[in-house]
Amino acid sequence: SNSEEQKILEAYQLLSKLYHHLLKHTKDGKKGLEYLYDRGFNEETIDKFQLGFSPYKKDFIMQFLEQKGYHRQLMIKSGFFTTNHQDRFQGRIVFPIRNITGKTIGFVGRSIDDQEPKYLNSAESPLFQKSKILYNFDQARSEIRKKSEVILTEGSADVMALAQAGFENTVASLGTSFTDTHASILRRYVDTVILCFDGDNAGQQATFKTLKILKKVGCFVKIAMLPTNYDPDQYIKEYGADSFDKHIIQTASTEMSFLMKYYKNDFDLRQEGELLRYVDKIISEIALLASPIDRDFYIRELAEQFSLSHDALTEELSRKMQFVK
Ligand code: CTP
Ligand code: MN
Ligand code: MN
Ligand code: MN
Ligand code: MN
Repeated sequence: SNSEEQKILEAYQLLSKLYHHLLKHTKDGKKGLEYLYDRGFNEETIDKFQLGFSPYKKDFIMQFLEQKGYHRQLMIKSGFFTTNHQDRFQGRIVFPIRNITGKTIGFVGRSIDDQEPKYLNSAESPLFQKSKILYNFDQARSEIRKKSEVILTEGSADVMALAQAGFENTVASLGTSFTDTHASILRRYVDTVILCFDGDNAGQQATFKTLKILKKVGCFVKIAMLPTNYDPDQYIKEYGADSFDKHIIQTASTEMSFLMKYYKNDFDLRQEGELLRYVDKIISEIALLASPIDRDFYIRELAEQFSLSHDALTEELSRKMQFVK
């Protein structure tokens, strides 16, 4: 019911404060705090993102909430616990996930020892739906609106690293499954999305899917590609914020040049037949571009890259465009 949801929301705010306090001011939390400093996060960032620590105790949260007068049965519905009613995030760093009004509605827990899995989220509930929430949107909103541009990353650590480096218009989809709902939220605030997923294979594939979703809602997309085995957090840690800005953000690719690279993974371009199928695929993508100048630009690029006749490519483009729209 509505008042139950209100109660759970209230409990989330209390827990978020408690976890943060435990991280900063207790012996248990010290390990978590050191872990975060080791990763290069400073106190200001840790406070800004209200990071916390969940102690190594099975029933710490249940006891805390019962003391505060919350009913056990209601709390069990909340997603704070595992299926056997134990603290979900024992021994983990917790990142509060807030909704657009800044209220905590869930947590991401990251292990700092060998505890598997590395990441664990609050259980899905009417209050917390990962498919509808973008991490840090509440804090990034005014910068996003001001710049009319958002940087979209995979993880909460990426958002923190970017914010600490001065890129405050950053959010994360918490994993690689970006949804239509995420896209419509962003579309209300921006024209341009800078996609900055991890440089690994999963990140590339997610970039492709996310690009397609963002195009459906009419966003302009730039692709900031990272070297393989880097994510934004690791890149900034190793090369610094200036290099990230200069070599990753400022040199972000256009959609088409990303697609031209991306589709190369699907074909063996040394074989004539495969190469022709690749060219056909790219022309289909070019046919989707709204601007005739853009279409001409990429047709020329394609012609040059594979020493093909510009006229033939243009003819095929016109044929394909009859089927678009
Ligand atoms: N994630 C998740 N469940 C997993 C793996 C990841 O929910 N099993 C989410 C987490 O929110 C995480 C994001 O996906 O922040 C990005 O995942 P990944 O790139 O794998 O995180 P790492 O960069 O490896 O994490 P870290 O930097 O903390 O080592
Ligand atoms: Mn604080
Ligand atoms: Mn990843
Ligand atoms: Mn990372
Ligand atoms: Mn990552």
